[in-house]
Amino acid sequence: MAKQPRPLIAGNWKMNGLARSGTREARALAKRLAGVKRLGCEVLICPPAPLLPVLRAALKGSRIAIGGQDCHAAATGAHTGDVSAEMLADAGCRYVIVGHSERRADHGETDRRVRAKAEAAHRAGLTAIVCVGETAAQRRRRETLKVVGAQLRGSLPAGATAGNTVVAYEPVWAIGSGLTPTAGDVAEVHASIRSRLVRRFKAEGRGMRILYGGSVKAGNAGELLAVANVDGALVGGASLTAKDFWPIVRVRA
Ligand code: PGA
Repeated sequence: MAKQPRPLIAGNWKMNGLARSGTREARALAKRLAGVKRLGCEVLICPPAPLLPVLRAALKGSRIAIGGQDCHAAATGAHTGDVSAEMLADAGCRYVIVGHSERRADHGETDRRVRAKAEAAHRAGLTAIVCVGETAAQRRRRETLKVVGAQLRGSLPAGATAGNTVVAYEPVWAIGSGLTPTAGDVAEVHASIRSRLVRRFKAEGRGMRILYGGSVKAGNAGELLAVANVDGALVGGASLTAKDFWPIVRVRA
């Protein structure tokens, strides 16, 4: 039997959080985690970039890692407003989310661009969380597996390993909507992602974590995290407060 990957419960704060409230919530979560005897998962918070130094200081010595929400493909240069993977690593990040559907939609990010960002993450020693997922129209047309397959093919770099890459399956229609696929639908998509990863990356693909994301809440986390090939969650809205995030983390803690 292959070793089960260590689950990852990741919070994506998106464009939410200020220094004072962010510190308070992150510290409250760290306090809960400190009480867990043998932690069964990794816990990650990806705050807006200006909060990275703030949370790094607030979470020093805690069991919570910090990560970025996006990075530029280049290490430095004339790219006003962008942040490089090297800068994120320098700020204490271990992870960076790339290719979130909000970036793909709001900033026209293509699979090719997402792959370049994932390569940049690897270059900087970060683990890339590469997001994929179908729209509502694509699901209605039963194109989910095809769309997700094409995104994986285009977005994952050749050098992806179990250590440097995490895949997050996030159906676009489930994000922030309160809607989630059934456990059966999640199982089908995650099994399809797993078989593609194994085909392309062999043993590394077997060990790569596949997160589910999209309206994960305290009330559905138990069911979603129990699905085969679901190795954690990427949580948006419900990661903003310790009160909401802790019950999700606790499922795998
Ligand atoms: P949500 O967002 O949990 O608020 O649906 C998830 C995400 O976009 O990562």
